[in-house]
Amino acid sequence: MNHGPDFTRSTAVIGLQWGDEGKGKVVDLLARDHDVIVRYNGGANAGHSIVIGGERYALHLIPVGILSADRTCVIANGVVVDPVKLLSEIDGLRSRGVEVGSNLRLSDRAHVVMPWHAEMDACLEGSEGGGIGTTRRGIGPAYADKAYRSMAIRVQDLLERDRLRERLEAIAPIRGAQLRALGSTAPDIDTGALLETFLGVGERLRPFVTDTVWLLHDLVRAGRRLLFEGANATLLDVDHGTYPFVTSSHCSTLGIPAGTGLPGACAGRIIGIMKAYATRVGGGPFPTEEHGPDGHRIRERGREYGTTTGRPRRCGWLDLVAVRYAAMISGATTLAVMLLDVLSGFDEIRVATRYRLPDGSSTDRFPPDARTLARVTPIYETLPGWSEPIESITDRPRLPENARRYLDLIERTVGTPITIVSVGPDRRQTLVPAGAAP
Ligand code: IMP
Repeated sequence: MNHGPDFTRSTAVIGLQWGDEGKGKVVDLLARDHDVIVRYNGGANAGHSIVIGGERYALHLIPVGILSADRTCVIANGVVVDPVKLLSEIDGLRSRGVEVGSNLRLSDRAHVVMPWHAEMDACLEGSEGGGIGTTRRGIGPAYADKAYRSMAIRVQDLLERDRLRERLEAIAPIRGAQLRALGSTAPDIDTGALLETFLGVGERLRPFVTDTVWLLHDLVRAGRRLLFEGANATLLDVDHGTYPFVTSSHCSTLGIPAGTGLPGACAGRIIGIMKAYATRVGGGPFPTEEHGPDGHRIRERGREYGTTTGRPRRCGWLDLVAVRYAAMISGATTLAVMLLDVLSGFDEIRVATRYRLPDGSSTDRFPPDARTLARVTPIYETLPGWSEPIESITDRPRLPENARRYLDLIERTVGTPITIVSVGPDRRQTLVPAGAAP
């Protein structure tokens, strides 16, 4: 009898808030127990920032697993790839002595982010503070073209001159006219120059390009453990996030099957990553946002400035109504609580556990519809804070009592155990139960 592939030892790392939860650090931590690290969604809008031995690395397209030796890193079909940015990331890593060669695999089916996508993104967003506050990396227009079909370019198209010329000649005039209609002042698209540039880019990427669907299935059949590295986060999921203030991909775990070609239950373990507080970049409702000194203090202590755009992040108290919903959508089996050290020194810490609705009733159900969410008022539980620094603590039981109470409240409200607590950016500043897999 054929027992089929074993996915029970594969893991997904998924953000449970609006991104920037510290997924990069957890992926880096888990990479040693997995053989293959897979990106399945998003593009260069994501930014994973990790610190190893005091050195900070910021990655946007390449899985963080590239920093661990002997791991295969896969950029799967669900990612939209800006090939110029990908090459500069490869060059940047190599210049710091990180090996990038046959350990990086790029899907032939991934869609390409072209220069006109970023320009359209900028035109649609308008002036700073307008639109939905995208990263202006062309992510929405690239996914829209994927759905349009006739306007798309895939990685495999960069590898054949005739094919790429045919695509560019079909698309460029339409895009040029659209951009002018949107008020773009960018120079006209020069199809001939683009052809040569992107053929050159394709040539440099050729060694990485493969059919990652078969590759992943072959690796699983050979007993390899996969680690899915989610980009963006569940509340930015195009279907299940706070639409329209979302990104354009399925960044919950629901995006993994479509974004890789693997079947539904392809991760036996799903680690939901959350900060000990909440942040958001760009527009959209954020019930627990703090505009006063508490928000400012979280931003400065947590260094809450975007990895991709450098924008200051909006900051506020932990919203467990939102996290509980995201954990449900993404099927989190355990939680990782990041940046707990940022909360040290507050006299009191507030946590939203329910919302008050405009009609006076209350609910613990997150309404992902942005209009409804904009009208709720958080109902807080207030806990006493702790004054001791916790950056050097290595065991959860040694945390100050009030920090432990805080973690207990999270576990109780979300209904999911916490297996990782992070108290600083370095690999060593991570609390994992003794003898247990995180
Ligand atoms: P886009 O993905 O650039 O289209 O941006 C759509 C929304 O998602 C904006 O509010 C962005 O700030 C937000 N966003 C996209 N990716 C990330 C991320 O990795 N972290 C945080 N916010 C993100």
